[in-house]
Amino acid sequence: MDITAQLTPLFKVETDWLIVAVWEAEPLAGTLADLDSRLEGTVTRLMKAGDITGKAKEITTLLDKKGIAAQRLLVLGLGTRDKSDRADLIAAVAAASRSITGKATKRIALALPENVPGLGWEEVAVLTGVGLMQGCDGPGLRKNKPDRFQPEEICVVAPSTAPADEVKRGANRAAIEGRAVSLARELVNTPPCDLYPETFAAKAQEAARAVGVDCTVLDENQLEKERMGSLLGVARGSERPPRLVVLRYRGKQSGKTLGLVGKGVTFDSGGLSLKTNEQMVDMKCDMAGAAAVLGAVQAIAQLKLPLNVLGILALVENLPSGKAMKLGDVLRSRNGKTIEVLNTDAEGRLILADALSYAVDLQADHLVDLATLTGACMVALGTEVAGLMGNNEAWCLRVREAAEWAGERTWPLPMFPLYGEMIKSDVADIKNTGGVRWAGAISAAKFLEEFVGRVPWAHLDIAGPAWAEKDSDSRASGGTGCFVRTLVELAREYGE
Ligand code: BES
Ligand code: MN
Ligand code: ZN
Repeated sequence: MDITAQLTPLFKVETDWLIVAVWEAEPLAGTLADLDSRLEGTVTRLMKAGDITGKAKEITTLLDKKGIAAQRLLVLGLGTRDKSDRADLIAAVAAASRSITGKATKRIALALPENVPGLGWEEVAVLTGVGLMQGCDGPGLRKNKPDRFQPEEICVVAPSTAPADEVKRGANRAAIEGRAVSLARELVNTPPCDLYPETFAAKAQEAARAVGVDCTVLDENQLEKERMGSLLGVARGSERPPRLVVLRYRGKQSGKTLGLVGKGVTFDSGGLSLKTNEQMVDMKCDMAGAAAVLGAVQAIAQLKLPLNVLGILALVENLPSGKAMKLGDVLRSRNGKTIEVLNTDAEGRLILADALSYAVDLQADHLVDLATLTGACMVALGTEVAGLMGNNEAWCLRVREAAEWAGERTWPLPMFPLYGEMIKSDVADIKNTGGVRWAGAISAAKFLEEFVGRVPWAHLDIAGPAWAEKDSDSRASGGTGCFVRTLVELAREYGE
């Protein structure tokens, strides 16, 4: 889907739905006041009467409006101007488009809010455009009777005094980033009978070809040759062979390479350390890290950002069988370290170990990995915030800031050397669990740290934010496509 930009007075916008946004406890100003005068002050009257308060995500619909070209008007509350952040802005706009797209509609237009604190026109267009697209997305694809309807046309409208090139650039970025987020969501929502390592790799190849990104897929024999014993240990229990996808985007002749590594467990049953039904039920989401990397690489290529990116998707299924790895097994990873397996459900770190070593060998200058790695991270931070860990403060801060610009939430967890003690093994170099409940997100990150050498590395544990258990007013349940846009922001800044 595309997003177009228009610089016209609001009363002239021809559309099925015109969305306008108001702040809490503020009178209408600028183009909105102008629009309202065409409506004979209806909106102002409703504000005075207390029907429209401007509270975040409040939605008021005015149908059949005379005096303006739009068929219907939706007044959206944005909350208090000085308390609202980027994530709130995306969510509010998404709630508006979500409330519309439950029915079939052709054209949606949004009047870009003016004077959003700290944001220029381009940024406002990006964030609201992404929100509009998020609200049009839904997982109901496999239903015979659809419950979500993509509009044919999405448009953002700015006053004629706004800089046209900035607004257009923002709309274009929003469309590209929105599609990348949708790709990641769609991959996460695809049932595990359809999405497994081979089919995921095929989808990556298809997406890469469409945007001119190099894509190589290593099969099980090549993984053997590359000595990825740790990843192969996890894959062994499944009938489906593993794959490792290597994406290369070259946006610059010389210069550094940003390495992005994603956990792609297409289904995590736990292996012989079998999960309960309740723990397993959503475990098709365990490839959200790999989906985010693929989405980000697609967007980075479409935006033609001036940097080089190496993207690695580590794709396996974690299942129990007569061939499955056992507790007490010792695996030999690509960088030579031996790993004692004490819990086959701590499989993410095992596949990332080899994928990270591979990225180091392919000469990534900086690394970020994304993984639905631990339930412990959700216990620590909840479902909306990713844990951020790494081996380099400055690099972690850059990732942190990129997430902030994208309107996505992260929080740092400490990586003191004492946590490294937790994964020392009696029989091998390290073991794959700390064996205690405490600091589970950190001991997992400490494990990964063993495989990144001296390369600055940041780890995002996205177990919480990758999956929405229920529908909300601003988002359909299922895959969220989280951190695709953080990676795009990071790449934008990295290329400069
Ligand atoms: N994929 C899970 C983590 C997870 C849990 C993601 C809930 C999303 C929602 C991971 O492979 C896992 O099973 N981790 C274990 C580690 C433990 C065995 C050390 C966990 O968190 O329980
Ligand atoms: Mn697991
Ligand atoms: Zn897992």
